[in-house]
Amino acid sequence: MKIVLATSNRGKISEIKDILDFSSVEWVTIEDQPEWPEVVEDGQTFLENATLKAGALSQFFGEPALADDSGLEVEALENRPGIKSARFAGPKATDEENITKLLDDLNKATLRGERSRVARFLSVVVLYWPGGRTISAVGQCQGTIATAPRGTFGFGYDPIFIPNGYGRTMAELSPAEKNKLSHRGSALRELHQHFKNS
Ligand code: IMP
Repeated sequence: MKIVLATSNRGKISEIKDILDFSSVEWVTIEDQPEWPEVVEDGQTFLENATLKAGALSQFFGEPALADDSGLEVEALENRPGIKSARFAGPKATDEENITKLLDDLNKATLRGERSRVARFLSVVVLYWPGGRTISAVGQCQGTIATAPRGTFGFGYDPIFIPNGYGRTMAELSPAEKNKLSHRGSALRELHQHFKNS
């Protein structure tokens, strides 16, 4: 069975392949295709955006496609950046720029008297078959925002996210440790159960 991985994020590609570890699946990724369609993520929710991405890639390749739409919600920032996590500091923002903006915004909130550093990662995954059938699942990981980035593993906001019960940021955990507790790990394991039952 072929499954298209509907993402251009190399961090996600490697995590999804490791978490699902399907020996019988031939993954189709942006890394081995000369043509890859741009998908405008203009949905209002993680589920809408994941469905948009998986649907577009499934139609383009005529194969089932799997998408993850995910992001970080910070309580003191009224759950921003949320669905805008990838583009928080601007349309082509790097991970470093997004982290800098998030820490700046949180420092300003602290100066206004806000004390919470509580945050959560959310992931919604959708498997979309040509013809339009879908299954989906949600995962989350609760934690707090560090005062400065630490660690070199992972991607995105990992260097400033400390999962509850850990003294280390996500970027200080090995990929295997992160996948066991991450939002993406939970969402994909639940999706796998739906898939086996479907
Ligand atoms: P998406 O590609 O629109 O789903 O954007 C997801 C964005 O959320 C990423 O670019 C990261 O900024 C952030 N994000 C999602 N999952 C993770 C994670 O596991 N670690 C760190 N950042 C993440």
